[in-house]
Amino acid sequence: MKLFYTFLLIFFSSFSFGQNKTIAIIPEPVTLSAVQGEYTLKGPLTIGISDNIQAAEIAGYLLNAITAPTGYLTTIQKNNSNANIKLILLSPEEKVLGNEGYKLSVTPSSITISANKAAGLFYGVQSLLQLLPKEIASKTVVADKVWSVPCVEITDFPRFGWRGLMFDVVRHFFTKEEVKDFIDDMAKYKFNLLHLHLTDDQGWRIEIKSLPKLTTVGAWNVKKIGTFGTFSKPEDNEPRDYGGFYTQEDIREIIQYARDRFINILPEIEMPGHSLAAIASYPELSCTPGADKYKVNSGERFMVWPPSGHFYGLLDNTLCPANEKVYAFIDKVITEVAQLFPFEYIHMGGDETARNFWEKSPAIKALMQKEKLKNLDEVQSYFVKRVETIIRSKGKKLIGWDEILQGGLAPNAAVMSWRGIQGGIEAAKQKHEVVMSPSTFAYLDYMQGDRAIEPPVYATLRLNKAYQFDPVPNGVDPQFIKGGQANLWTEQIYNTRHMQYMLWPRAFAIAESVWSPKQKKNWNQFVRRVETHFDRFDIAKIKYSPALYDAVVAVKNNGKDLPLIELSTEVEGLDIYYSFDNSFPDNFYPKYKEPLTMPKDAAAMKIITYRGDKPIGRMIVITSDDLKKRAGIKSGK
Ligand code: ACM
Repeated sequence: MKLFYTFLLIFFSSFSFGQNKTIAIIPEPVTLSAVQGEYTLKGPLTIGISDNIQAAEIAGYLLNAITAPTGYLTTIQKNNSNANIKLILLSPEEKVLGNEGYKLSVTPSSITISANKAAGLFYGVQSLLQLLPKEIASKTVVADKVWSVPCVEITDFPRFGWRGLMFDVVRHFFTKEEVKDFIDDMAKYKFNLLHLHLTDDQGWRIEIKSLPKLTTVGAWNVKKIGTFGTFSKPEDNEPRDYGGFYTQEDIREIIQYARDRFINILPEIEMPGHSLAAIASYPELSCTPGADKYKVNSGERFMVWPPSGHFYGLLDNTLCPANEKVYAFIDKVITEVAQLFPFEYIHMGGDETARNFWEKSPAIKALMQKEKLKNLDEVQSYFVKRVETIIRSKGKKLIGWDEILQGGLAPNAAVMSWRGIQGGIEAAKQKHEVVMSPSTFAYLDYMQGDRAIEPPVYATLRLNKAYQFDPVPNGVDPQFIKGGQANLWTEQIYNTRHMQYMLWPRAFAIAESVWSPKQKKNWNQFVRRVETHFDRFDIAKIKYSPALYDAVVAVKNNGKDLPLIELSTEVEGLDIYYSFDNSFPDNFYPKYKEPLTMPKDAAAMKIITYRGDKPIGRMIVITSDDLKKRAGIKSGK
């Protein structure tokens, strides 16, 4: 009997191991049944399509994805029922699949992807690519590889129609080619919305032909190296040659590139706050005397965020709501933006408007009297309503950060909830459309591991918290929740490698939160799939953060003014080893079992994680002063 159980155990563990190794789709499909057997791709290959131009385009995408790593001669053939891989547009349609769903059937004799619409075929292709061996991520031919796909039956469709990532291309500029790479990676994980943050205090990134100074002046600042936000104030003679912008031709190219991957682009033109680049270009847009001396910000401090209380500007980075020239300016900008971007929404920003200069402005006072506005919330709301009218007049809908609720929401405005979920709940109650992107779950600029070793940012969001993202809060009518997105602000992101490090693996967690059924979420299983995608990223040379393997350090006061340290890991099955004597711990050092009190004379704590006998996390070094600080204990020295 015992032997029988042992046999069963081995059988099941090897079965599930085998499955995990080969089947690791992100985001997890709605239903997936794995069956015995596999289909092996061998050259020459045929991709069969019905007589449809969009299916042909997707077949072309698949062909490119397969031929680079396999080197197989591959052809696309119409109406060939013997093709190796068939892409079929269903007629009649299958209701459950909607516009983006698909079925993927892999049998020992063929691979078939079927869908109602081209988008579904595209997502089926993404799942198929994820079923192929990891070397499919290679950009060059991998010789002597057996390209087999496990037999599966998948039916899959998204939970939400808005599955977004926001990319801030202002704080640091990313080139057209870098944006395309970003789009390519989004598409692999079935995101369908790229929110481009195009204007801010540090730059104006989109050519507006009727307002040329926005890009001759507004797109450029001074290159500084160090920690953004603490840079020295630029001298007058320092060259303003850092930055850049997209021409309208570039924008069209990016939009088309995204469209080919079933991704819409939401342009964000920030106002009335975060507008220093516009004001440096056209100072008459400000209410504040002296704005003609303003320059595009280069990362020097100009806003003050008191730990408690209201933030304020050291200079006035807002468009003046009391100035008719501002609305003429916005009309010009929105006219060109609306003509360029086919997406139905334009994002007007609306967040973090420092109003300390408005308080002193005679023009704002006069506006308040004229329009009977009782306070600055109402001034802001007046501004948003004027912008909403402009955006609507160009045939588009307004979406803005949740501060647009202050002083009363403009009619028809959609809300993007970032200060937690409360703004989204409020807007949904008022029957406005909502996109959830709460900083608490979806801010990918936050640190993802211990602050002793992460590049410094003011907050932390670990992978397991991002994985808990649910765009529909309890008690909210889901019909108003369009979906969710994660936001990648780039103040502290200076290049593509670090951008990738911040994006992955947390964007996997977000992808799963906006695509997969809520009840299918499973953290341990997700981690295993993430690890197989790390292997793919290694081959594709895409950077990702290994922070999920690091120890999680929690510190409090032990009651006697020494830090009490509690260690844990996000990933199960890891061991933690530590030292307090400055030497580097390994798996022969003390293994963490229970909360530890820091020895009184310790200089630092060093912590490392292992999986079995292999180090896996990064070495975390925290000085005793830092441990004390974290515990709220004053350092004796
Ligand atoms: C924001 O993060 N200020 C929208």
